[in-house]
Formats: sequence, structure tokens, C-alpha cells
Amino acid sequence: MTAPYVPTPRDVALEMLRIADVKPGEVVVDPGAGECGIVTLAVTVFNAIGIGIEINSALVRACIENFERLGLKGRAYIVWGDLFDFDYSIADVVTLYLGSDINETLRPKLSRELRRGARVVSHDFEVPGWRAEKTVTVSGPFRMHRVYLYII
Ligand SMILES: C[S@@+](CC[C@H](N)C(=O)[O-])C[C@H]1O[C@@H](n2cnc3c(N)ncnc32)[C@H](O)[C@@H]1O
Repeated sequence: MTAPYVPTPRDVALEMLRIADVKPGEVVVDPGAGECGIVTLAVTVFNAIGIGIEINSALVRACIENFERLGLKGRAYIVWGDLFDFDYSIADVVTLYLGSDINETLRPKLSRELRRGARVVSHDFEVPGWRAEKTVTVSGPFRMHRVYLYII
């Protein structure tokens, strides 16, 4: 089960992290991190610890280069692997831009592993079976984007 690489625009990513109320020192996990745009913003703007999980080795390399360029060693991490193999119990916030089918498959794992009060924010795709606490519309460079907030 996979999703193509389409980056979340910066303003949409910032709004995702804002409505998730990311606090300094919290752990933000982005399964299917692409080039780690969201991870990088979580660290540089919100002072969080960022962890991306990415299956595509070229994108993993791009994440590492971005972290090095920005001096994020020790604060931003990328895991090369399948997002279904990761243990999410470490996360305070999970950001998703994957698709309804992957969200649905991932939902029971997130429900099992995330602590009470952890937040999940999903770009454009709802998590089927969960009720969103909040839904916002964000204007991107070319279209409007939806962001869904869930609290465990
Ligand atoms: C739509 S992009 C989102 C990128 C980033 N999260 C963002 O919002 O900018 C989805 C990413 O998920 C990755 N991906 C898809 N299936 C995956 C899997 N099973 N495990 C890890 N990464 C996966 C793809 O390679 C792609 O980079």
C-alpha cells in the first residue's frame, strides 16, 4: 500500500502543526515524509523533535541533506522504511498526507499505539471511522486544502 510523493505546501504544513498545537520538545512524526518539509518545519518553527518515515531512498537522502543544510542534527530524524512497521507510541503528534485507504489501514495501529491526548492531523484525507475535532480550510498556492484534526 503506497501513496505518490506530493509535498504539502508550506502554509498548509504550518497550519497542520498550528492546529495540532505542537509544543517545544514534543515529538512530531510524519509517516510518508517525502523530502521532510513537515518534519523540518516542526523542528525549526515549533522547536519540536521531528521524525519522518519514508520508503523511497532518494527522498530519504533529500531529508538527510535538508537536515544537514539546516543544522538539525539531534532534532530531526528520518527512518528509511515502511510506515506500517513504525511504533507510534513515541509520538505526541502525527501528520498525515497519504490517502483515505492508507489512513483507514493505519487507524487501528494509531489507536493502539498513540497515548491519550496525542493529536493526528491529516491533510486533505479524513481518517475513516474517526470523528474530526476540527476541520479547517487553508488556501494553498494553487487550490484550497482541507486539514482534519483528531485527538486520541
Ligand atoms: C503525499 S506524499 C506526503 C509527503 C509529506 N508527508 C508532505 O506532506 O509533504 C506521501 C509520501 O509517502 C511515502 N510513502 C508511501 N507509502 C509509504 C509507506 N508504506 N511507507 C513509507 N513511506 C511511504 C511516499 O514515498 C511519499 O513520499
